[in-house]
Amino acid sequence: MSDFQTNNNEKERAFLVGAGIRRARPLLNLEDSLQELGLLADTAGLEVVGQAVQHMHAIDPSTYIGSGKVNEIRESIQEQNVQVVIFDDELSPRHQRQLEKVFGENVKILDRSALILDIFAQHARTREGALQVELAQYEYLLPRLTRQWTHLERQAGGGAARGGVGLRGPGETQLEVDRREIGRKITKLKDELERVRQHRSQHRLQRSRAGIPVVALVGYTNAGKSTLLRTLTQSDVYVADQLFATLDPLTRRIDLPSGRHIVMTDTVGFIQKLPTTLIAAFRATLEEVLEADLLLHVVDTSHPNVLEQIETVEDTLAEIDMPAVPRILVWNKMDQWVDIPLPQRINGERYAADVSISAYTGKGSDQLLEIIEDTLVSHLRKVKLLIPYQRGDLVSTLFETANVEKQEHTEMGVILTVQLPPSLYERYRQFQIGK
Ligand code: GTP
Repeated sequence: MSDFQTNNNEKERAFLVGAGIRRARPLLNLEDSLQELGLLADTAGLEVVGQAVQHMHAIDPSTYIGSGKVNEIRESIQEQNVQVVIFDDELSPRHQRQLEKVFGENVKILDRSALILDIFAQHARTREGALQVELAQYEYLLPRLTRQWTHLERQAGGGAARGGVGLRGPGETQLEVDRREIGRKITKLKDELERVRQHRSQHRLQRSRAGIPVVALVGYTNAGKSTLLRTLTQSDVYVADQLFATLDPLTRRIDLPSGRHIVMTDTVGFIQKLPTTLIAAFRATLEEVLEADLLLHVVDTSHPNVLEQIETVEDTLAEIDMPAVPRILVWNKMDQWVDIPLPQRINGERYAADVSISAYTGKGSDQLLEIIEDTLVSHLRKVKLLIPYQRGDLVSTLFETANVEKQEHTEMGVILTVQLPPSLYERYRQFQIGK
């Protein structure tokens, strides 16, 4: 059962609220952003029955939106028997509590972050993915802990926020007990995640030893990354017309036209207003991106907000300090593209190349593979490295992972002339000589 189904299997009824601050210049306009919020609500299993927008000069310190609008919304939600009110922007715990008071105890107040977390919780498939979501949920829940958060309670493992957990000390309220319990749970989850990650990074090390270039797919949610991976590998990668269908990194081996191999990794889709805390929670997926030799930025060319979506992805990549590896812009869904020239406002310097494809029909995928190969080869850097003798481990790693053309022994250490892909170059640039 979805977390937003009532006991008699009906979907919970949701009402959306968008607020625009004058002078702030958001990436999407209010209506487009609210439409996206509606898609998120739909993906989470809610039925959207109404919405309200407010343009304002400043955020109301008490209820986020102005009191007149709050009253208007209260009437609408009573009339329409709404169970969940979702704000498009992140609410502070104070706003949340205040709104809960105004709208009454039968109405849950969510914001975009909580909704995305909810979807993440439904979609995580690996142990690591589930642990990350659970951790992010508890961290989100802690400052907001009130009786209303029963839906998070259920998803986040069910225990911590439930009344009756833990022994109540003298003078302690149930809320304090719950907070303490959640704090403990967070520490435990972090430890467990660390263990899972160490195990995974050993696997990654083995792969990088094999010297196979890593190509990461990035893109706005629903751009078609999983479809592309499925088409290129002719495998049964999960594809759904849903936001955030892919949460856990998924890696497949692909043969290039010359017979060389690459590994391609599908990653979590990005979305505007994704809070930094959530991005941090998805470090696991993004670690694969950070270590990639090449990024394929997949875009849904047929989407009316394609340029804003590209901007969002670029901003998110900058936020996670993506190293300067080459990027290819992949104009996907060309089968749905009507005869209008592709957007010209793209910053061409960001991309080594761009290519039009339909991941759905497979059209353009051969050309994409050729471009991947050309880009990887043309970005190999021939460098001279001076590795001190006490770092013999690095010398052997280089022999295993890179193309070593020459080796000289000097008093200071070993000088290696090597061809390095971008990710390895970043790792070894501190040893470079004779630039
Ligand atoms: P997230 O998991 O949300 O990040 O999505 P994703 O980028 O992995 O997108 P996915 O591959 O799941 O595709 C999303 C939807 O777009 C699915 O319904 C696909 O069938 C559809 N789709 C993907 N590529 C194409 C394409 O080339 N043409 C058309 N018409 N539809 C496509």
